[in-house]
Amino acid sequence: MGDPAVVKIFDTTLRDGEQSPGATLSTEEKLQVAEQLERLHVDIIEAGFPAASPGDLAAVKEIAGRVRNAAVAGLARANRGDIDAAWDAVRAAEQPVIHVFLATSDIHLQHKLHLSREEAIQHVQSMVAYARSLCPTVEFSAEDATRSDKDYLCSVFETAIKSGATTVNVPDTVGYTFPHEYEALFRDLRERVPGIENVTMSAHCHNDLGMATANTLAAIKGGARQVEVTVNGLGERAGNTALEEVVMTLRTRPDVFGSIDTHINARELLAASQLVSRLTGIPVQPNKAIVGLNAFAHEAGIHQDGMLKNRMTYEIMTPQSVGWSDTNLVLGKHSGRHGLDARLRKLGYKLDAHDLKAAYSRFITLADQKKHISDADLRYIIESSLETPAAI
Ligand code: KIV
Ligand code: ZN
Repeated sequence: MGDPAVVKIFDTTLRDGEQSPGATLSTEEKLQVAEQLERLHVDIIEAGFPAASPGDLAAVKEIAGRVRNAAVAGLARANRGDIDAAWDAVRAAEQPVIHVFLATSDIHLQHKLHLSREEAIQHVQSMVAYARSLCPTVEFSAEDATRSDKDYLCSVFETAIKSGATTVNVPDTVGYTFPHEYEALFRDLRERVPGIENVTMSAHCHNDLGMATANTLAAIKGGARQVEVTVNGLGERAGNTALEEVVMTLRTRPDVFGSIDTHINARELLAASQLVSRLTGIPVQPNKAIVGLNAFAHEAGIHQDGMLKNRMTYEIMTPQSVGWSDTNLVLGKHSGRHGLDARLRKLGYKLDAHDLKAAYSRFITLADQKKHISDADLRYIIESSLETPAAI
């Protein structure tokens, strides 16, 4: 099961993330992302869904042949054709993983798969066993687990484990669960499923109600030791759990999570975010936690004053710890005199109290008209006021 203090990061940017509308990547681009994921030190890269298309199969094969410092997983539905394609794609990896999934909720069984519960259990038994006959590491996912009957879910996981699954994943496929429910589900499964103590429990959340990160963290509290995440929270519909948010929450709140941590090299988070955004063409919202342009930007005068006195007043982690070069004290109409003075000093101007007051008044007039005040604007304010002191 591994070290109980380590949460494995299973990155699915190249599979669930790439299923995001418009996010399609070429094989060359996927390789660039995989290399960055290795620099991040993720534990498992889910490289694609090999049965989905020949292009996907070829890309997963390329990645499996190149990546040396992470396991490489290929997704498969619970049928022989998909499992053969996944094995063909990942078999050259240092640590290959076949990821088999089958839906377990009545909604999916009746309307999508047209299978009875008993028939589905038989598929799980035979297909997990088949995958395990090929590959030493097999993950089984019960799609739509959080809307599945709990007793039935326990039987499905028991069958998967008996058939050779080494990881069992509990997806919140439609982003429906609440943190307290999801934590309780993991605790229940731990108590009720025979053999679960010998495998890794994994969480996989979608963000339809904006709770993917909270739910994933709750799963860790409930005993999950693998989390399935994507860079920037990319993914189907409203996306998957954002890798950077889970990693930095564990690092920032040891009072809640104790010594539980990941292997992630957090200084590579920003580079990963920017690479994925550039290659997919999907921008990162400015107020996105950790990697958004404004995540370490402060404009309000009170905040800038606090930051200049002690950065812990308004920052719970350092920008450098996640790859930014520094905090950004943005000058705008909400900024105060301390913020202006600090920026002017950086530009080489040391004003006395009288000149600073005058410069501040000109600065505020300009900031009322312009969204962004550049260093050139500031230079102009100072130089022109020195030339025409009376005007200030
Ligand atoms: O959301 C989901 O249920 C999935 C499975 C294939 C794991 O992505
Ligand atoms: Zn998913």
